[in-house]
Amino acid sequence: MSEKVRIFLSAAGQEALTALYGTALQDPRFSVVGLAPTAELLQAQLPASAAEAALVDAELLVPLGERGILEFLQTRHGGAALLVAIPPALEPLRGALLALDRVREVVAKPYVPGEVLSRLWQIAQSERAMKASLSPAAALRTEISAPAGTVAVGTHVFAVTASKGGPGKSTVAVNLAYRLAQHGVRTLLVGFDTPDAVGIQLGLPKAPNMGAWFRSGSREALIGAIQRKDGILDVLLSPNDPIEAARVAFADLIDRAARFAAGLSGSPEAVVRRAVEQALAAADAGRIARLVDEVRSLHPPYAAVVMDLPPTQTEWNIQPLMRATAVLLVAEPSLADQVNAIETLNILTGVLDPRYRVPRQAIYLVLNRVTDRDPLTPQAFREGIEAALGWAPPVIARIPHDPEVRRAQIAFVPPVTKVDAFREGIDQIVAFFFPNLSGRPPARGLQLGGIRIRLGGR
Ligand SMILES: Nc1ncnc2c1ncn2[C@@H]1O[C@H](COP(=O)(O)OP(=O)(O)OP(=O)(O)O)[C@@H](O)[C@H]1O
Ligand SMILES: [Mg+2]
Repeated sequence: MSEKVRIFLSAAGQEALTALYGTALQDPRFSVVGLAPTAELLQAQLPASAAEAALVDAELLVPLGERGILEFLQTRHGGAALLVAIPPALEPLRGALLALDRVREVVAKPYVPGEVLSRLWQIAQSERAMKASLSPAAALRTEISAPAGTVAVGTHVFAVTASKGGPGKSTVAVNLAYRLAQHGVRTLLVGFDTPDAVGIQLGLPKAPNMGAWFRSGSREALIGAIQRKDGILDVLLSPNDPIEAARVAFADLIDRAARFAAGLSGSPEAVVRRAVEQALAAADAGRIARLVDEVRSLHPPYAAVVMDLPPTQTEWNIQPLMRATAVLLVAEPSLADQVNAIETLNILTGVLDPRYRVPRQAIYLVLNRVTDRDPLTPQAFREGIEAALGWAPPVIARIPHDPEVRRAQIAFVPPVTKVDAFREGIDQIVAFFFPNLSGRPPARGLQLGGIRIRLGGR
């Protein structure tokens, strides 16, 4: 992947700055484009630095006063995403700082240079991920309004789906999300299937989960429902309770039916029947889509949201698809999956089911459990679909079958950290959507605070 990330460093005093700079120089991930040990240099250089991520020591800005600090960071960031270091005296300002458009994180001083640099790398990678253009279709279907001639950028929202149960949707969703997090991309994995499979694969408790948000609707409840895996990946589990999940879906249907009923006349029974029929036939964004919107409006933003969808045609499948910027259709290279994929593509694009409206350009094929003895090659798999439909999505990844995948999952270890060939398959998806990320993260560990952590080593 592409070149080093460009960072800008500031620290109150030459000594502190030298410690940071020295650490950054030894780290091949960074190109240091600016250094500021004083308030004057910080104010003069940050706005013109062309850094992707900047560490701002707010101590240098104290003479500006609280309002002056906030104004400087809101307007003079030079386009960089900011990591703000604050001395204890500025702690009351933390919330206001975090609310600024370009501030991604606030750390308390004193900090460990290696740790802060790792955070800076993740911030820069997440910015790159947000800048990687979304699928052409995403511009048509999200609220992102880009001026004509430009490509849409922002949060990538992946819907991982399939024609039927079992080809590896959850495995692909979990490992794509985990791998993105290893690449430093701020990622949220969301389970929409009940019972939740992503939590089982990652060894997470069933609660907290998104049920809390459906019950209260508050942002605090949403944030409180997000779990963390290995300190790098945020995970939001499904309600995990089939009855609660059904209630959420029914609540959306009832809202819709009530809206239709308002425009109908006749006997109460006829109105109810007609309104419910219409509600069932016309999909609409409801609570489940609003959850995705809410996730997307969190600040700092997620650069990627990966959604594990159920294989059934319910609100839990339709509504997340309305919010996806890319749909990954997972299939095994079997005849059954090829035939089913043809049908599913007709459903997704609204040919067979008008409740679905995914544009063709937003759909991609991911072949899973591929072996070299498959009679149906990835090319033949795609061509068979094309022969039937007159078009077919591109195959963007071929993920090999490997018995080690299940072995790792039983131990709650993401296979992407353990099984080399499997990881290479997942990295094909990463490289397709995020060609501008810097460097390859280590296969098995990740760098946190300069300490190499081994994940699930044998
Ligand atoms: N590349 C792979 N190599 C070997 N085994 C795999 C691979 N991908 C998935 N599996 C195994 O296949 C099984 C099904 O995977 P998974 O649960 O991810 O599928 P799914 O499509 O989400 O299923 P469901 O429809 O039940 O949600 C699991 O036991 C998993 O370990
Ligand atoms: Mg699953």
